[in-house]
Amino acid sequence: MVDKLAAYLKTKNLAESSGHDWWHLFRVWKNAIAIQKSEGGNLLVIELAALLHDEDDWKFTKSANELLNASKLMCQFEVDKNTQQKVLELIKQVSFKGANVDTSTKNIEAAIVQDADRLDAIGAIGIARAFAFGGHFNREIYNPEIEPIQHNNFAEYQKSKSHTINHFYEKLLLLKDRMQTNTGKLIAQQRHQYMQSFLQQFYMEWNGEIKYPEANP
Ligand code: ADP
Ligand code: NI
Repeated sequence: MVDKLAAYLKTKNLAESSGHDWWHLFRVWKNAIAIQKSEGGNLLVIELAALLHDEDDWKFTKSANELLNASKLMCQFEVDKNTQQKVLELIKQVSFKGANVDTSTKNIEAAIVQDADRLDAIGAIGIARAFAFGGHFNREIYNPEIEPIQHNNFAEYQKSKSHTINHFYEKLLLLKDRMQTNTGKLIAQQRHQYMQSFLQQFYMEWNGEIKYPEANP
């Protein structure tokens, strides 16, 4: 049943261009399965939530509170009511809601899916997704005259229209310290460092600094 749902989501989400395409779901699904191996938790709930976590994303639908799309799909694929309930409770806990908003999770299943989703928001793929999202929603790449904001509530965060470099300071660089599982924390460290060196290089190029390759000995 999980594989049938995955096949359906693949066909439905292949052409998406904001970084929320099928391959994002695929990576979150695979990350979540890998983390579950060392952390435990109900695998069926984890897999379904990983696959369905963005079906009612507030950035794209008005059904974010009711999770109508995820509910409908679970009925369509004949998921039992008890599992449906657990998956819906879990999905509500996944999303980032602003720098100063606590999004710690209530159980190991939610911790795993949140970490799996956040791992896909950092590192090389995180950088690619952030600029894809920025292009999709007409955001500037960078504007040094607009400072990042540490949002105090979800509503403020949702209203942000800032340039994509600010998104690193408003979300992406904060994720390393908010991982909920030990496995997630370990993976996040290296991806975080990669983003930091990307930003260093970005500012160097922005400022017209020239760095020549080191001469061969
Ligand atoms: P969440 O539910 O936590 O927002 P998603 O799976 O929907 O997680 O992925 C969010 C991703 O979308 C971000 O990690 C980033 O790549 C992109 N994104 C969201 N908001 C912005 C923004 N303002 N600027 C650039 N990228 C953004
Ligand atoms: Ni996601």
